[in-house]
Amino acid sequence: MTIRHLLGIENLTKEELIALIRNASQMVEVSNRDIKKVPALRGKTIINLFLEPSTRTRASFEIAAKRLSADAINISDSGSSVKKGETLLDTARTLESMSPDVLVVRHRESGAAHFLANRLKKTSVVNAGDGTHEHPTQALLDCLTLSQYFKGEITGKTIAIVGDIRHSRVARSTIFAHLLLGNKIKLVGPRTLIPDEFIGESAFGEKNLSIHYDLKEGILGSDIVMCLRMQTERQDSFFVPSLDEYSRKYCVTENVLKKCAPNSVVLHPGPMNRGIEISGEVADGHRSLVNAQVENGVAVRMAVLLALASGPHAEEKI
Ligand code: NCD
Repeated sequence: MTIRHLLGIENLTKEELIALIRNASQMVEVSNRDIKKVPALRGKTIINLFLEPSTRTRASFEIAAKRLSADAINISDSGSSVKKGETLLDTARTLESMSPDVLVVRHRESGAAHFLANRLKKTSVVNAGDGTHEHPTQALLDCLTLSQYFKGEITGKTIAIVGDIRHSRVARSTIFAHLLLGNKIKLVGPRTLIPDEFIGESAFGEKNLSIHYDLKEGILGSDIVMCLRMQTERQDSFFVPSLDEYSRKYCVTENVLKKCAPNSVVLHPGPMNRGIEISGEVADGHRSLVNAQVENGVAVRMAVLLALASGPHAEEKI
């Protein structure tokens, strides 16, 4: 499979989504080898331009590139000329002059990855999270994790996405992925944290999407419960009276899960705020797939980098 950029899930076809998940599942095994390195991207250069904080996404893109034998460099906000007032486009054009094959971008502005993809001439762009818009590799790694857990059966499911949906790029990419898969999506949170575009009968033209302001009602009958962090860094006014009050109504605890979603699994993209959107007991409990999500992040990013940067016969080099 070859694609030019990965900017979001919204523009993928169902076939492309499934192919990326399948390719990623084949990458998992490389990380279990004694020598975790294959020559598939030897001689290729990947630049990770992370202009917002990140632990797992950045580390896993770097590890993925290195496991494929690409040369990877990381650039962050504080160590770059962005701090000296250089524009995003000038920074990206400067980097493009050094002939990278892929530029992985995380940026606080929605649309930043599209903006660069439309302007760079030779470099493939991966969106590693743009503002409140999309985070496609997170949705892909969540799908891979679910595919492993449900033994390849990831259609016909119901997923409840709980929390700060308004500011979450993970939620948007997840919604697009599960709409493509034909799954039922329940958005659960206070009215202020559900974006208006999702409310009303014509949201995405879909009947598969429902809104719930009550946690117990929202997770009732769900196979998957995805907890989202309160994105306070993106909130320009008060969306809930206090975090305390929010967690009393929306924190996903064992007690709530036991009553309403006894067989469900729990996802969280991290970083977790224990006791606010998810209890410590649930985060560390038997339903939690959080560690598998992180593990699968490397495999998914390997598959994405391969789809963008590999030449012919790359499969033979795995
Ligand atoms: C998410 C992000 O950055 O959007 N984290 C991640 O990439 N794993 C979610 C978050 O920050 O809450």
